[in-house]
Amino acid sequence: MTAAARPGVTVFLTGLSGAGKSTIADALVAGLEADGRPVTVLDGDVVRTHLSSELSFSKEHRDLNIRRIGWVAGEVVKHGGTVVVAAIAPYEAAREEARKLVEENGRFVLVHLSTPLEVCEDRDVKGLYAKARSGEIPVFTGVSDPYEPPARAELTIDTSVTPLAESVARIRAEIDRA
Ligand code: ADX
Repeated sequence: MTAAARPGVTVFLTGLSGAGKSTIADALVAGLEADGRPVTVLDGDVVRTHLSSELSFSKEHRDLNIRRIGWVAGEVVKHGGTVVVAAIAPYEAAREEARKLVEENGRFVLVHLSTPLEVCEDRDVKGLYAKARSGEIPVFTGVSDPYEPPARAELTIDTSVTPLAESVARIRAEIDRA
């Protein structure tokens, strides 16, 4: 299909900190761009620097963060673009709101990275789980704050048992399906 005829798509990677969202996003984006398909990346950490810098990690602010991401993604897919989101997005209602904003204009592929908490905590790439356990970070997803698993994800991938290349291939197949 030509780029012009192809509907826009948003891949929304959700999961705990350390579940593999950014790693998969990076590899997925590299593959898409190598195929001549430009991608808008909305990574939680980056969005929180440029678009949501005033927001905390309260439920209200997380929901607002996800609503903003959903709105931006919707604007991009409206013109046939490809978006990759990587955000914890712990609340079902906010994820579904983002889905609605995108599906008004294109496709929404929710990918739940279901990597178990123990594995994420063991990886502790940013040292945040240690801080959460010590109380230095009082409210942290998976430790002292909830993560609601998606009721309807297009894909569920546990990165503790699925190699990176396979995870990326599964998502890519889903993107290329339409
Ligand atoms: S979301 O809940 O609003 O979707 P988002 O993905 O943007 O979260 O940002 C999460 C990132 O913020 C994590 O990767 C982590 O580096 C950092 N962070 C800082 N404090 C917290 C916290 N209390 N809970 C979760 N993540 C936190």
